[in-house]
This record gives sequence, structure tokens and C-alpha cells, in this order.
Amino acid sequence: MNQMQIPHPASPLLPHCEPALPARAYYDPQWYADEQKTIWTNSWIYAGRVNDLAEMTMRRVEIGGQNLILVRDRDDAITAFHNTCRHRGSELCTEPEKKLSSKLISCPYHQWSYGLDGRLARTPFVSITPDFRKEDFSLFKVHVKVWNGFIYLCLADEPPDFRDVPDMGEDALDNWPMDDLVTGHTFVKTLDCNWKVFWENYNECLHCPGIHPELSAAVPIYSKGYMAPNEAPDWTPEQEAEHALREGAMTWSMNGMACGPEFAGLTPSERAAGQLFVTMVPTMFIVAHVDYVRAVSLKPIGPERTELRAEWLFAAETLAQPDFDLGNVVDFATLVMSQDGMACEMNQRGLKSRKFTQGVLMPQEFDVFRFQSWVRNRMKVA
Ligand code: FES
Ligand code: FE
Repeated sequence: MNQMQIPHPASPLLPHCEPALPARAYYDPQWYADEQKTIWTNSWIYAGRVNDLAEMTMRRVEIGGQNLILVRDRDDAITAFHNTCRHRGSELCTEPEKKLSSKLISCPYHQWSYGLDGRLARTPFVSITPDFRKEDFSLFKVHVKVWNGFIYLCLADEPPDFRDVPDMGEDALDNWPMDDLVTGHTFVKTLDCNWKVFWENYNECLHCPGIHPELSAAVPIYSKGYMAPNEAPDWTPEQEAEHALREGAMTWSMNGMACGPEFAGLTPSERAAGQLFVTMVPTMFIVAHVDYVRAVSLKPIGPERTELRAEWLFAAETLAQPDFDLGNVVDFATLVMSQDGMACEMNQRGLKSRKFTQGVLMPQEFDVFRFQSWVRNRMKVA
């Protein structure tokens, strides 16, 4: 029988159980449509790395069910617009990505063209009457924010303060050379689960001992079902932090060895931690190691489907090493993400049971509770 334990007052553990979100939140099409408007339209959403968007290129992006274009100018300026022409609404970019031959975005239907700032520039073939004012027909702009070489878009008229988005603060990655890192590998997988199932799984480590044997061996505390020492029921603030990775390991890789030189600017505690997680709900999380960084982003593509994308970011000199072993790095997290994907799909199938209407959150699921409270708050449901 589990013993009742009173955690330390500074412990993050919940002091009681909490009801989870109702089961329909994970498959009801109406709930999903409401989330697209209230959550995905009103948040900063990851749209790619600056280094992966070539100059004079436009790229189609979908956020909150809206068709958008992301544009990079010759002078590195990045803008975004709804992918719709102000004439009669044709799509402007009809391909996943398109090279721009001039500093104009041209509509493929009747060739109206717009400057890369969205202003209507040309309206060929039509006569212009005095009641037509070009300045009233600019493209519909979307807010853009670049942070650490990542591009974010927000569809809201008044976007939320970006400083509140990274849970570790806007300066969390300042000691990593983020702007210069290049993408060495990308992994994309469609999961048969609601996007919230993925985040809930991310927000607890109770599943780690059963689902992630290799990860639990690499990060020993995970084998106890904790993400951090303060989750232990007998934790006190006086306890000293231990080295996070198994003896001799430097990073998350198949053999625990770093894939290249360690980043020069890291503090001793950042080195000792082995990993730094920066969470940016609902769009992505970033895991920074001593030798590389992994960015994992989510895109809901239906009430029960989610696209998962992971990008491994390296220093250019690391990738250029003649003996660089990409598999040793990427196979480890790919295995962990595949295990998580399997767990999420299993969770999704089970919560469709007619008998299952709502789950329960236990003390260790304080971060799941925080996530669900955030969803309830955004959705304005009790
Ligand atoms: Fe774009 Fe006519 S719809 S030019
Ligand atoms: Fe996991």
C-alpha cells in the first residue's frame, strides 16, 4: 500500500488529486475547432529556422487552420501574410516553397503584385477608377517574432507578450550560440493522437521507467519517475543537486559521448545539468545540450492527429568534422520520441472508450495540471 506523505512546503507536488480535462477535449470536432480559434490563433507559433529559409523565398505555412505565407527578403527581413490576394481572394503561393524572382509577390490569377512589405504595387490589365485606393488593398499581415534563430508567427490582432512564452525566460538560451546553429537532421512523424495528449505526456515522467528504458538509464533520476529531485516525496531544499546524466555521459546520444566540441559559453551548472528544457506551449519545446540543441514542435492536423517535427541543431564546425557520427546523436532522441509517440497513440485509443469520461491527476502530475489549467483558461471552460 502506498504510504501517505506530506511533501515539503516548497515541493511542486500537488497537495491533492485534480480532475483531468473531459475526455471529449481529445476528440470532439467542436472542441478542436474552438481551440484553433482560442489557442492556436492567439499564441506565438513556431514556423521554422531563419537559417532554413533562403533569401528571396516565400513559404506556405498553416496555423490555426489558416493558410499563410512566410517571406524572407534579400536584406534578411522576414514578414508573413495571409495567403490570399486582395483582388478576389486567390491563393498567392500555390507551392510549399517558392523562390521570388523580384521584390514582388505576384498573384498567379490576374497578376496583381505586392511589395514584400505587403503593399499593393501593380494591378495590370484593369482600369482604375477614382474610388479605388491602392493603399486600402495591402496584404493581410501576420505578426512575426525571431528569437534565437527561430521564427514565430501570431495571428492575433494583439499578440501576447513574447517574454511570457519561454517558461525558462527569454534569456534561457543566451549561453548557446543559437543564431549560428544549423539544422543537421529533421524528423517528421504524424501521430494518431490529439495534440494535448502529446503535451501531457511531455509534462510528466511517471511513464519514463516503463516507456523509456534507455532514457531512464541515461538520466538516472527518470528511472524513479521524476524529472527533477524536488519531485521526490521526501525532498527538502537542503539536498544537493546531483549530476543529471549517468556516470561518464556528456549528452543525449547512443553512447553518451558529445558529437563535437562543447559550446564555449556554458556555465559549470549548465554543463553539469546535461540538458536544459525550454517549454513554449502550445507550439514547441527546446532541449539544449552541451554539444547540440534539439527543437521539437507540434502542429495539430485534426482532432486526433498531430504532426511532430524534431530538428537537431549543430555548430557548423561540428557538422564539418570528418568523423561526425550523426546516427549516434539522432538515433537516441528518435527512439525516445518514437516511444512517446507510441504511448500517446495508446492513450488516445483508450480515452475513446464510452466508459471513460474523465481522468484524475495525481500529485506528481503538477505540470500536467498546470498545462490543463492553461487550456481551460484559454478555452474559458471550468
Ligand atoms: Fe489575385 Fe485576381 S485574385 S489578381
Ligand atoms: Fe516520454
